[in-house]
Amino acid sequence: MNVWVTGGAGFIGSNFLLRFVPERPNWYFVNIDKLGYAANPLSLEPIANAPNYRLAHIDICDFEALERLAVECPPDIIVHFAAESHVDRSILGPRAFVQTNVEGTFNLLEIARRHWMRGRSVVDGRVFHHVSTDEVFGSLGPTGRFSEESRYDPSSPYAATKAASDHLVRAYGKTYGLPFRITNSSNNYGPRQFPEKLIPLMILNLLERKPLPIYGRGLNVRDWLYVEDHVDAIGVVIEKGRNGESYNIGAHCERRNIDVVDALCQIVAKHTGASVEELLALKTFVEDRPGHDLRYAIDASKIQRELGWRPKESFESGLEKTVRWYIENRRWVDAVRSGAYLEWIEANYGRRKRLS
Ligand code: NAD
Ligand code: TYD
Repeated sequence: MNVWVTGGAGFIGSNFLLRFVPERPNWYFVNIDKLGYAANPLSLEPIANAPNYRLAHIDICDFEALERLAVECPPDIIVHFAAESHVDRSILGPRAFVQTNVEGTFNLLEIARRHWMRGRSVVDGRVFHHVSTDEVFGSLGPTGRFSEESRYDPSSPYAATKAASDHLVRAYGKTYGLPFRITNSSNNYGPRQFPEKLIPLMILNLLERKPLPIYGRGLNVRDWLYVEDHVDAIGVVIEKGRNGESYNIGAHCERRNIDVVDALCQIVAKHTGASVEELLALKTFVEDRPGHDLRYAIDASKIQRELGWRPKESFESGLEKTVRWYIENRRWVDAVRSGAYLEWIEANYGRRKRLS
């Protein structure tokens, strides 16, 4: 069984491969990744020489390269993680998001359609698993949760391109009978996340006593999911999910950004001996993100009821593990904080007005 995993050198994809390459020796995993800014090959060191794994250094926007790979190593399952994934980058430069998230997904769907169809039906056992986000549903007010039936209403260019890719996947299901599953998960955190996202950015800034840039008043709410729980849920959907269905994944863990940052100050203080007051004083309220969604919250009852999946990690223990991981993995951190990273920090934060 050949399993194509796109974006396997990124945050969630690498955690997926680290879990399943050793666990599924009879599956042959091909990691299709262009090794962009968010990829870190160090993440994959433990499996780099595994007999059932290889890296294919390919951009999913390059259809011919995908086609050559499909002839050489035809996929039975495609688990599609590859994406431009950061909302702030999508605001400053949306084009790359349309290219990778929409056109790249389209290319993979075309590969699946060409290689999986026999006449009008599809060869048994094939699955296109599309990894998506709750951001396709837009913003919630103070109450309510997203279900699988929630209306699509994306706010950022990132969310709009992910919504477009979800629609394309469903359209291939309806039109060509392509067997697909979609998972829409809430915000992930944990080891190996590129330090542009809230939690790793704050951890690294805390370790270096740099200001902690909080957008607006820090009152936006995100529903946090530990990455290993997410990866576990994807494994369960691949194994037991139904074709043509989507599943929301979340851990019922809503927190205001300000509370997340406060919690990180406490944990980093405990591990470094710094005073909590000194770290809390680094909090800096800055100009808000345009179109900033107020609140996300996932109703994960479908995957719990139908497939028996449940998250294992509490937010407190997950944050603790995450802080420890960044403290203990400086080589990984140093490898991603290149000149390009510093340019991003300057582009996104350099001109942002301080609110206090
Ligand atoms: P990431 O940015 O850490 O990693 C993305 C990976 O995709 C990188 O390795 C990058 O090199 C690769 N990639 C990007 N463009 C590519 C291209 N054109 N061709 C080949 N490879 C390419 O992202 P992540 O946080 O691991 O997210 C993975 C998936 O999960 C994405 O589809 C994202 O939308 C979805 N998701 C993420 C979260 C989250 O909180 N991080 C939540 C829900 C859903
Ligand atoms: P982020 O990690 O970018 O994820 P997303 O935008 O996909 O939810 O941001 C999480 C929350 O943290 C979001 O409400 C924006 C906020 N945020 C800040 O306040 N400061 C920051 O520097 C970043 C990156 C995010």
